[in-house]
Amino acid sequence: MNERDSGRGEVRAISSLTNPVIKDIRALAMKKERERTGLFTAEGLKLVTDAIDSGWDIRQLVHSVKVRDQTMVRRTIAAAQARGALVLEVTDAVLEKIARRDNPQMVIGVFAQRWLRLADLDPARQTLVIALEGVKDPGNLGTVVRTADAVGASAVVLIGETTDPFGTEAVRASMGSIFARPLVRAGIDEFFDWAGAHRLPVVGTHLKGAVDYRAVEWREPGILLMGNEQSGLPQPIAERCDALVKIPMAGTADSLNLAIATAVVAFEARRGRLAL
Ligand SMILES: C[S@@+](CC[C@H](N)C(=O)[O-])C[C@H]1O[C@@H](n2cnc3c(N)ncnc32)[C@H](O)[C@@H]1O
Repeated sequence: MNERDSGRGEVRAISSLTNPVIKDIRALAMKKERERTGLFTAEGLKLVTDAIDSGWDIRQLVHSVKVRDQTMVRRTIAAAQARGALVLEVTDAVLEKIARRDNPQMVIGVFAQRWLRLADLDPARQTLVIALEGVKDPGNLGTVVRTADAVGASAVVLIGETTDPFGTEAVRASMGSIFARPLVRAGIDEFFDWAGAHRLPVVGTHLKGAVDYRAVEWREPGILLMGNEQSGLPQPIAERCDALVKIPMAGTADSLNLAIATAVVAFEARRGRLAL
């Protein structure tokens, strides 16, 4: 049998650092390999169980031999096997090779990515859609996805060239929310065409916004559009928004961090709809 065979539900003990399956998993740290395979890794027992519980397609479960008798790990192994995943019981040396260096985890899952298109979203069922133009920082992206989940936004749309939400840092920063909210990829024209066709108001955020974000009449379904970290929303895109809002700032900072600004505005946009 070829070592790369999917081995559905099987358990393999691996101690060799040159094992081809381990090499393949390690390669998922690179964006181009994630794009080629459509796979990604989630590190840590909580993230892995969140993903499995949310019905994400697990292909491989890697765990340290040291934790195999822990109750939660045993349950996760059983759940992964029931879904046909290959289970790899590995030594610390092997785990160190595939896990992040800082705060390495004892359990790692390999999952299939899930992307939607705008056409897959039912406009009538959306609440607040959070759209990010050209987001570059994976920590920001993961934090925005977590915020979108917390505020009850219905989807996160990534417009143009963005960092990969399935990179390890973005997945980690999302704290599991990446498994709870649909992720959509779209071009800028496609995005405005979709919003226009379904009469969804697009409210952009801009340092030169004419309106205080608290003075807007937020409608649902609707879209909150955020600009990128370095240059904000480009002028041609800002001009296509139905409104441009600003968060007033009192001190010397010229802007807020993207994820913080998203949280401030999104919670205001959904204020009347969030039950305590
Ligand atoms: C770090 S800021 C971008 C700063 C950039 N130098 C600029 O000129 O827009 C990232 C994004 O957060 C949002 N943002 C940050 N502070 C804001 C504020 N005070 N008012 C409105 N939006 C803000 C905007 O969407 C902005 O594009």
